[in-house]
Amino acid sequence: MLADRYGRIATDLRVSLTDRCNLRCTYCMPEEGLAWLPKPELLTDDEVIRLVRIGAERLGIREVRFTGGEPLLRRGLVDIVAACAQLDPRPELSLTTNAVGLTRVAATLAEAGLDRVNGSLDTLRADRFERLTHRRRLDDVLAGLAAADAAGLSPVKVNAVLMRDVNDDEAPDLLAWALDNGYELRFIEQMPLDAQHAWNRADMVTAGDILAALQEHFELTPDTPEERGSAPAERWLVNGGPARVGIIASVTRPFCGTCDRTRLTADGQVRTCLFAREESDLRGAMRAGASDEELAERWRIAMAGKAAGHGIDNPEFLQPDRPMSAIGG
Ligand code: 5AD
Ligand code: SF4
Repeated sequence: MLADRYGRIATDLRVSLTDRCNLRCTYCMPEEGLAWLPKPELLTDDEVIRLVRIGAERLGIREVRFTGGEPLLRRGLVDIVAACAQLDPRPELSLTTNAVGLTRVAATLAEAGLDRVNGSLDTLRADRFERLTHRRRLDDVLAGLAAADAAGLSPVKVNAVLMRDVNDDEAPDLLAWALDNGYELRFIEQMPLDAQHAWNRADMVTAGDILAALQEHFELTPDTPEERGSAPAERWLVNGGPARVGIIASVTRPFCGTCDRTRLTADGQVRTCLFAREESDLRGAMRAGASDEELAERWRIAMAGKAAGHGIDNPEFLQPDRPMSAIGG
């Protein structure tokens, strides 16, 4: 098991498959000039599969989510998914994607064993999409989400980040659109993970702001069970249900106390938290000939050192050295 000093047990593994992306969301990447990880430092497909297997067989990992960067840019994605679907015990497999290009591979991914997709979309307006991502790909994203739904990768969840004076007036439109399409929308408070270090607490659109904006147009009733478990989203039934909306208040209502995550970067480093200041190198150990059990033990030791919380609201908070695209959502 991957237990830490605070009694938390990690069963959910996020695997970043690449730090590259075909969009440039302002809260994540600069428009240009971000250096990519050098190819030799990236885990090979076989190395990724081996580490996921060790997680599933020896460390109690039950859910694996592939992230990036943009994981659809990883050539071996389908093979990696297929291999992970053969593991015993078989973990749940999902993908966090910007959905660009998903039309081409949604069905293949479902056949390979992918269970679910989380898409990212912050605006329904083409001009804003371009301002926000520096690319004109809104139609691709909409088609990609529809393709995921059609392929049975459902319920399709859609993550949206609202930014002050950029798209903070769009919460009701996004929810109406999600309800129309049968997607489960989740708003995520913007976190200090941008490569440019431009995040500013005072500008952040908070969960409270989002809830108030939605309540002007929808009747929301709390759908958060007594025991929220490790799910970061607080959920509401919309107009009596069954449709729901979620808000992930990562900054104003952190859920670190019930965190069940462990993360693997595309270059084979274990991170215990998005905001961890340290990483543990599994790639080097693996390439130096470590056995499965030795790698598992390194991973356990890394997790034992997991911090109690991210501390974003503390004055001494320091943003991680690596941006979101290199850590994995
Ligand atoms: N704050 C909050 N969410 C972010 N994402 C990327 N960067 C940030 C950030 N700084 C979201 C993306 C995607 C998921 C992986 O995380 O929109 O949905
Ligand atoms: Fe790409 Fe996702 Fe970062 Fe946007 S948030 S630039 S889609 S990795």
